[in-house]
Amino acid sequence: MRRPIGLAVVVVVTIAAAPAQRSAAEDTQGNVAASELFLRAFAVFSHPRCSNCHPRDDQPRQGTSMRHVHAMNVQRGREKTVGDGAGGYGRPGMECRTCHEASNGTLPGSPPGALNWRLAPKEMGWDGLTASELCTHFNDLAARGVPVMDHIVKPDDKANAEWKIDPLVKWAWEPGLDRDFPPVSLPEFTDLLRGWKKAGSGCPPK
Ligand code: HEC
Ligand code: HEC
Repeated sequence: MRRPIGLAVVVVVTIAAAPAQRSAAEDTQGNVAASELFLRAFAVFSHPRCSNCHPRDDQPRQGTSMRHVHAMNVQRGREKTVGDGAGGYGRPGMECRTCHEASNGTLPGSPPGALNWRLAPKEMGWDGLTASELCTHFNDLAARGVPVMDHIVKPDDKANAEWKIDPLVKWAWEPGLDRDFPPVSLPEFTDLLRGWKKAGSGCPPK
């Protein structure tokens, strides 16, 4: 009977904590401001499970600190832009798929894996950016017509059947071995981004 008691405690703590957290940036209608929603989502973007693949240079990172450049001088290889699946697969002879398979390795020290493992395009790099800077960067890209959230939030023009969350994004919550994962769940994260867009995509102050 230990488990139900543990769950009850978690539920009570969550309910007790929610109102205090929510009051921070509500407008007069009680809606949470876009900037506040983005700040909460930023805990995911800035988590190493995401940011290790989203550097602003050509080298993936590994581990829990962005200072830890990927071992064996792995490089992005041919660069492509967002929406074009062909870039970021590594250099000839050192391609990601040489080591990263479609699912996580299970032996200690073995590479994680997901479908089409590759480095994010450089214009989608954000290590070292603040929440305010990243938010502004996303808005700048969107203004240029770059699809910035299509892998995470279903665009209005896509039918359910033809749209799914990118396996590389999903991987961050199922990273294998003892790797930790973002502090906000995937459904919560997508809700935050949907809410952020709906509330006008406003950014946190600098
Ligand atoms: C294994 C590497 C990898 C990991 C891990 C990864 N990404 Fe990406 N990400 C990519 C690649 C590659 C693209 C470019 C996809 C394309 O345009 O075809 C991308 C594109 C994106 C984009 C812009 C395109 C769009 O429409 O969504 C966002 C936003 C994004 N990733 C967020 C995340 C978040 C959040 C996480 C963690 C939960 C994450 N990524 C984890 C490689 C990765
Ligand atoms: C020679 C083998 C090899 C190649 C080639 C390789 N990797 Fe890795 N990679 C690994 C191993 C092994 C790990 C796991 C290290 C660990 O967890 O201690 C790893 C870990 C990572 C991580 C860290 C995941 C995390 O957050 O914990 C990322 C990101 C990554 N690789 C991206 C890439 C990308 C992108 C490419 C191609 C451009 C690539 N790797 C090419 C072997 C390789």
